[in-house]
Amino acid sequence: MNEKVIQQIKQRYGIVGNYEGLNRSIDIAIQVAPTELSVLIYGESGVGKEVLPKVIHDNSVRKHNKYFAINCGSLPEGTIDSELFGHKKGSFTGALDDREGYFGVANNGTLFLDEVGELPLATQARLLRVLETGEYIRVGESEVRKTNVRIVAATNVNMQKAIREGKFREDLYYRLNTIPINMPPLRERGRDIELLFRKFAYDISEKYRIEPVRLTEDARQLLLRYKWPGNIRQLRNLVEQISIISQEREITSDILKAYGVSDDSSGETGLVLHGMNRPEHAAEAHSYEKERDMLFQLLSSIGKEVKDLKELVHSNLDNLHGAQADSFRMFEEERPDMATPIQYARQTVMQPPHPYVVNEQHFQPQNNVTYPQESIQDVDIEAIEETPMSNKALMKKNIIESLKRNNGNRKKTAKELEISERTLYRKIKDYGLDI
Ligand SMILES: Nc1ncnc2c1ncn2[C@@H]1O[C@H](COP(=O)(O)OP(=O)(O)O)[C@@H](O)[C@H]1O
Ligand SMILES: [Mg+2]
Repeated sequence: MNEKVIQQIKQRYGIVGNYEGLNRSIDIAIQVAPTELSVLIYGESGVGKEVLPKVIHDNSVRKHNKYFAINCGSLPEGTIDSELFGHKKGSFTGALDDREGYFGVANNGTLFLDEVGELPLATQARLLRVLETGEYIRVGESEVRKTNVRIVAATNVNMQKAIREGKFREDLYYRLNTIPINMPPLRERGRDIELLFRKFAYDISEKYRIEPVRLTEDARQLLLRYKWPGNIRQLRNLVEQISIISQEREITSDILKAYGVSDDSSGETGLVLHGMNRPEHAAEAHSYEKERDMLFQLLSSIGKEVKDLKELVHSNLDNLHGAQADSFRMFEEERPDMATPIQYARQTVMQPPHPYVVNEQHFQPQNNVTYPQESIQDVDIEAIEETPMSNKALMKKNIIESLKRNNGNRKKTAKELEISERTLYRKIKDYGLDI
C-alpha cells in the first residue's frame, strides 16, 4: 500500500478517515485505475461509494475524456434504455429528436453506473452486450454502433440474492465484478467517526459563520457505539441538524439521543443491520436504509428551510426602519423558545446586538415601505423622544392601544398584532394588564 499516494487522494477528494479498510479500498481503486478492468463497488447506503469511480477515472488514461455518473435507480424504467443507449427521433412518443445516449457521448471515457442492481432485465441485456462487444443499438434503430466505455458500477443491494431471485443476470454480474471494492460501514471505522464529526461541524461553522459544535466524552462514546444505519450521510445530516437547530455548542450524549442516536445496541437499528458490513447482507436493509436516508434528508432540508426563512425575514427587517420591524424583532427577542441558529450566531459569534435606538425617523413611513396607518398615527412621538423606550415598553404600549381599538377583544388584538392569542395572554399577564 502506498501511504503517500493514498493520503494525496484523500486530500484531493476530501475523504476523511484513517481506517485501514478505507485505505485498502482507496488503494485498490488506485491500483486498478490504469487498467481497463470493470470495477464493482459494494457498500451500504451512505458509505461514500461515489468518490471512488471519480478517483479511478482521474487516474486512468481516460482522464481527459468524459466521465458521467448515472443513478440507475432514479431513471424511470420507460426511458432508461434511451438515456443509456440513445434513441432515434420518433421511435416513441416524446422522442422529438435523435438522442445520442450516455454510451455514445462517453466514448473513450468512463461511465459510473450507481445502484446498478436496480437496472431492469432488458437494460441488463443491452449492457452486457456493450460490455462484451463494444456494440450497441439505439432505441428504435437497427444500426449497430461502436463505443469504448469503461464501466465502474456500485451497488448497495445483495447481488447474490438478486441473482437467485432472477432479478439480476449472473453473466452481467461476473462481467461487472472483475474487481470488487468494498466500502466499509461507518460503525466499523472507530475513531474516524469522531474525525468526520469534527470535519462536518467545522464545514457548517464556516458556511453559516457559527461556532462549531463539539462533543463531550460521553457523547463521543455514544457515537462510537451507535450502529449508523445511514452511515456517513447520516452522520453529516446529524451534525448539520444539531449545528443549526440546537442552541448548545457542547453536545452531550443526551442531546444526541434527542436527535435519534440510540444507545441500544440490541435495539431495532442494531438488529436489522447487524452484520451488514458484508455485501451479501445489504439487500435486507435496502428499502429500510432508503427510507432512513429520505427521512434524514427531509429533516435536514426542513432545518435548512427554516434557516433560510429566518434569514429572509432578517434581511427584510434590515431594510425596514420602523416600529413594525422593531416589534417583529421584539417578538423574537422575547421568545427564547423561538431562537434560531442565526440569532444564536448573531449573539455569540458575529457582533453584539445593536443598541436599540429610537428616534423620530423610526416612526415616519419610508418612501418604499408602507405601515399599517393606525400603528403610526397612534404612537406618541414626543413621549418616545423624551424617554427612549425599551422594546418591552413599546410592545406594552402597542398592546394597550390595540386592546383599546378592539374594545378589549383579545382575539382581534392578537390578530392585529400578528401574534398568537397565547402569546398575547402571556404578555397581558407579564405586563400586569389583566386587571
Ligand atoms: N470518508 C469520507 N469523508 C468525507 N465525506 C464523506 C466520506 N465518505 C462519504 N462522505 C460523504 O458522505 C455522503 C454520502 O456519500 P456517497 O458517496 O453519496 O454514499 P453512497 O453512494 O455510498 O451512498 C457524501 O456527501 C460524501 O461526500
Ligand atoms: Mg450513492
